[in-house]
Amino acid sequence: MSNQLRLAIIGDLHVAVAHGENDERLEIDPGRKLHGLSVDLCEATIAAINAEQDIDAAIILGDMTRDSELFNHEVAAKLVRQLNVPFHIVAGNHDMARKRPETSRYPGVEVLDRNDFCDFYRGNGLPGATTRYVVPLPGDHTLIVMDSNLTLNELKTEGFDESSQDDGFVLPDQLAWLEQVLSHCRDSGHVPIVAIHHTVMDQSPAEESNHILSRIFRYWQVHQAARLRELFSSYGVKLVLSGHIHAQSVNVQDGFVNLVTSAAVSYPHAWRLLHIEDGICSVESRPLSVLPSVRNLQYASREWMNEGMGEMIRQKVSGVPLLAPLADKLTLMVEQSGWWPRFSDGSLSGFRVDPGLIPQAGGLNLMAIRQVVGVLDDYGRWKSERPDPSQLRIRLRG
Ligand SMILES: [Fe+2]
Ligand SMILES: [Fe+2]
Repeated sequence: MSNQLRLAIIGDLHVAVAHGENDERLEIDPGRKLHGLSVDLCEATIAAINAEQDIDAAIILGDMTRDSELFNHEVAAKLVRQLNVPFHIVAGNHDMARKRPETSRYPGVEVLDRNDFCDFYRGNGLPGATTRYVVPLPGDHTLIVMDSNLTLNELKTEGFDESSQDDGFVLPDQLAWLEQVLSHCRDSGHVPIVAIHHTVMDQSPAEESNHILSRIFRYWQVHQAARLRELFSSYGVKLVLSGHIHAQSVNVQDGFVNLVTSAAVSYPHAWRLLHIEDGICSVESRPLSVLPSVRNLQYASREWMNEGMGEMIRQKVSGVPLLAPLADKLTLMVEQSGWWPRFSDGSLSGFRVDPGLIPQAGGLNLMAIRQVVGVLDDYGRWKSERPDPSQLRIRLRG
């Protein structure tokens, strides 16, 4: 039996089309998610994968639409059906009914919750009416797809409020299911590859519990990440694929790799090609270079991300008394340093803010500025201590 496997990994699609005339909701969040271009980006990603030879299957890492609106899912489903290889969908937090702000909601529009999502994609990305499932892949590989989301009802039952609606959770029943599946893999000599929307280990220093920003970033990863890692580790899982954070990222912990693929809808619009041969997996990043509707996609999108994030940073900084008077200068510093696009395209390793970009100030203002610069620089240090995905050779056995 051939032991080769080639997998295309597609990050969050967030397909969003105009609903009615002059739908301004498509313009919201121009930095992180290019909703207005989501269809073009999805099409281009699929075309790039279809043009590739010998791909065995594609894995779509979740967040199929903007906010699980039926009219967006109808478009997303039509798009992903154009893949000329079998594809497997992972459910994301935007694939469930959520409470969203007025500015991004579509009143009266049907929204899919988990059960509707299962029915909708059954036989078209999901093998049955469930978002956790197992798929045999060529060679002796097994894909295990998890669902790291809770519906609003489940959230309530578990005692969490709606502020946690986008967090990742893996409850005991799913852990028991996972253990059974992994045990079966081990007994049958199959190599498990796990896909889960949320991450399962730190992908940034800000997720560490003592970090100044941990309250914001800690739950990028699932709440039960430590327990999950224990399970993966004890059953010899070597590769876990995630999306959600819209960034090219990788970390290694407890003997396995958590490989994160950026969103199709966000800079750098990259999919990944995994080539597995004789138990060794190599990873290629494939950023889209051409989009008919945008000249110089990579450059333009990087600038949009910078501007969009700059605006967000300006708002946050304006709320901190010591930094508020410096909001414009700090925003410019972060924009000109290219920090956020570099986080997103996975090139932040070794980053340091250019001293010439740091605003001049005195006293307490200076201390506050130094703290901001320290946080940015710390990412560069942290990332430089992590592997470079393009150089990764993941040993899937032993
Ligand atoms: Fe997500
Ligand atoms: Fe997403």
